[in-house]
Amino acid sequence: MDIDWVALRAAAVDVAGRAYAPYSRLRVGAAGLTTDGRTVTGCNVENASFGVTLCAECGLVSALHSTASATAPLPAAQATPALIAVAVVAGDGDPLLPCGRCRQLLLEAGGPALLVDTAAGQVPLSELLPAAFGAPDLAARSDRPADRPADAGGS
Ligand code: THU
Repeated sequence: MDIDWVALRAAAVDVAGRAYAPYSRLRVGAAGLTTDGRTVTGCNVENASFGVTLCAECGLVSALHSTASATAPLPAAQATPALIAVAVVAGDGDPLLPCGRCRQLLLEAGGPALLVDTAAGQVPLSELLPAAFGAPDLAARSDRPADRPADAGGS
């Protein structure tokens, strides 16, 4: 799929204008192109309790799922649409690198090949988040069956 980076950046700039950032005064907008051809966006939303702040990418990932056409049955990780390209900008319109937490969020939403717009061009997320922990590690290393109360051998 062709990626229109100019349009994606413009969508990020537009949504940055709707950010609620009275504390940091840093407006952030994020726009993503999905595998099913949609553009989803998010802006940062701050709170007087600073730790509660939502990054723009949180809104973007929420929109990815909340605006998907079909409601997937649980468990449905593979059934949900994914991101293939993301542009994040500050209020000045220039690219902003996603924070560490949001790189992890984006990894789950787009995988290591997700293209991220940066001031130096588009790079795969794997360059911004190398040696990442992800769902495959959880599946491979978890002892989940054994630590469930129902599996613990009670009456
Ligand atoms: N922020 C984002 O929205 N995304 C990022 O990846 C980095 C930081 C926001 C959170 C907060 O509202 C403001 O920028 C300052 O940290």
